[in-house]
Amino acid sequence: MSGVLITFEGIDGCGKTSVAAEVLSRLEKAGKEVVLTQEPTKTWLGDAVKKGISEEHPALTEAFLFMADRTTHSKTISNWLEEEKLVLCDRYADSTICYQAASLVIEGFEGDPFEWLKRISDAFALRPTLTLLLDLEPHDALERIETREEMTKFERLDFLEKVRENFLRLADVEDRIEVIDASASFETVVEESERRILETVA
Ligand code: TYD
Repeated sequence: MSGVLITFEGIDGCGKTSVAAEVLSRLEKAGKEVVLTQEPTKTWLGDAVKKGISEEHPALTEAFLFMADRTTHSKTISNWLEEEKLVLCDRYADSTICYQAASLVIEGFEGDPFEWLKRISDAFALRPTLTLLLDLEPHDALERIETREEMTKFERLDFLEKVRENFLRLADVEDRIEVIDASASFETVVEESERRILETVA
């Protein structure tokens, strides 16, 4: 048997980082061999991504930065999967499809950048067994994060509306994506996420 990759996705402020951390701790207590990882990664490639998005670059440059970080990260994840670990990943390829498609549309990229990015991702990224999409109205998401000291350029209402639309569009065509109502209490979202993960790994 090989390991299982489960990803957490959603717009900024949906709570996935805190939910993933709590789910990790519960699964560890239940005796599972779990790894929690994230993108952008905590490597120099992830640092390059963060530097890139803090500056002004074309959306395509950003897309390739995220994908470069992911290419190396995917090797690391594959090694964990070979060790039969349960790998939880806070953001993965779906984030690039949904965020960078939104940026590319704004820049007037020809054609449908969503489809284009999806094709590239399908060609090189790993296919998670399960993706938990923590869905929240952008207005509510921004209310949760507006007190943070550092806000990224992606944390704007009109932009997050487009990203959310893209996530829901992806969920329509990908059976592996399960939508969770992230407006529920933290406890409920954690329990719902844990339940779906346990059903998947059972
Ligand atoms: P992240 O550090 O996950 O932020 P947060 O913890 O607030 O979710 O990601 C930084 C920003 O980069 C965030 O606004 C989402 C965005 N992002 C993309 O646009 N594309 C991607 O492929 C990824 C992984 C993140």
